[in-house]
Amino acid sequence: MRRIKIFDTTLRDGEQSAGVNLNFTEKLEIARQLERLNVDIIEAGFPAASKGDFASVAEIAREIKGSSVTGLARSVLTDIDAAWEALRYGAEPRLHLFIATSPIHRVHKLKQTKEEVVETAVRTVKYAAAKFPVIQWSAEDACRTELDFLAEIVEEVIQAGAKVINIPDTVGYISPQEYGQIFTYLREHVPSISKVELSAHCHDDLGMSIANSLAAVSAGASQVEGTINGIGERAGNAALEEFAVALHIRKDFYEAETRMNLKEISRTSSLVSKLTGMAVPANKAVVGRNAFAHESGIHQDGVLKEKTTYEIISPELVGLQNNSMVLGKHSGRHAFRNRLNEIGLSVPEHEINHLFSVFKELADRKKEMTDDDLAAIILEEKLSKEQQYYRLESIQVQYGTNQVPTATVTLSGCQNEKIQEASTGSGSIEALYNTLEKCMEETASLLDYRIQSVGAGRDALAQVYVKLDFGGMETSGRGLAQDVLEASAKAYLNAVNRVLYMEETKKVAVNG
Ligand code: KIV
Ligand code: ZN
Repeated sequence: MRRIKIFDTTLRDGEQSAGVNLNFTEKLEIARQLERLNVDIIEAGFPAASKGDFASVAEIAREIKGSSVTGLARSVLTDIDAAWEALRYGAEPRLHLFIATSPIHRVHKLKQTKEEVVETAVRTVKYAAAKFPVIQWSAEDACRTELDFLAEIVEEVIQAGAKVINIPDTVGYISPQEYGQIFTYLREHVPSISKVELSAHCHDDLGMSIANSLAAVSAGASQVEGTINGIGERAGNAALEEFAVALHIRKDFYEAETRMNLKEISRTSSLVSKLTGMAVPANKAVVGRNAFAHESGIHQDGVLKEKTTYEIISPELVGLQNNSMVLGKHSGRHAFRNRLNEIGLSVPEHEINHLFSVFKELADRKKEMTDDDLAAIILEEKLSKEQQYYRLESIQVQYGTNQVPTATVTLSGCQNEKIQEASTGSGSIEALYNTLEKCMEETASLLDYRIQSVGAGRDALAQVYVKLDFGGMETSGRGLAQDVLEASAKAYLNAVNRVLYMEETKKVAVNG
């Protein structure tokens, strides 16, 4: 069996999804879960992009030891310096350096000749090789690059010190057969190719990212890149959980495997979905709610007689458990701590008392406490430590048929000052959001609003996701509460707090 390395870019390419902006604590939480999932490499961000990106990449590199941590850099010396500062204390500092190679990008974006692109690539790889033990070099838009030029530049960067060569299908254009042929061509035409690992990086614009990644493996790639749930720019990246399970189920054919801990897939998928606010479609392969549901009578009958008639993946393989009632208001601290450990929530000992009191408070109001409830409240408490410019003190909303809905809100601001406003609207949410807008003294339009229950039952927790245009900047937020109006107010404030933080730590656009 060949071993295929998994390179996860949820925190970099995935975070480039429209409307996704993860904060420091969320990125750290996802990185810890990716380590449990046992991915080989975590691309933690783009250190030169902003102070916020730099800080999270540096912290992830310092903390994560079970996976190698990398960061992206354009072929610019200052990007490489920033990446080195962020990654140097990691277990195995690794740089991901890229430049665009296709004629479209050379002419319209870089405005460089082939010779100039080669010169920049070689110079920056050499510069980086003096600092980093491992350099991965990517030819952006490789799949629309002339094959002979691709082979030429790949040879040059290998000689300059690159250890991994990545062939991205940046715009999701290639077909599986053609993608495999690029790898074969490079293996036949690049003299130094045996000195490096070959990596596949596929986007899903034509829905072929997994098929393309598998074709690359068949043609000699030993590393595959992607994101959890396939999130990412436009139609997203290859979904790593789909790739790893496909390789596992069809190892008879591909004769290759990953070291991914497949039992952590379900948990990782739901964490990423929760923190990014990007819902997983019910029919999505491997992690969709219906992925293991058998609806038709014929199928149910078959599965009851023999599971393998219609089931090629077992739910247990990806760590799906039935989410039964686990704790209640009579549960003690010991049972609480044990359950957190069992479901993989890392909580430092000094925080247990506080979290236990949060749990008790909810358990008093809610009859059944499931693992999903526990994960949701613990996560919410951990994340509430993030920078908060505005905090919700109280809300009151009045609604009645034939009455004008009215909301009154009290917030505390950055200097702990109290802000109180009231306003009306045509519905309760509008009244609430009009009031919050008044408190902010900034115009905000609501671009999206979604509400989801955590688990089942009338007393289930409400999770609200919003997308706002706040003073001309797009931002998203999340709020959890037992009451839908409180969850809605929290989601709005969470979005505002994020945009204010982003303002403070401005990002530069990725432009190779
Ligand atoms: O898709 C792409 O080309 C990328 C590069 C930055 C590697 O994400
Ligand atoms: Zn990409």
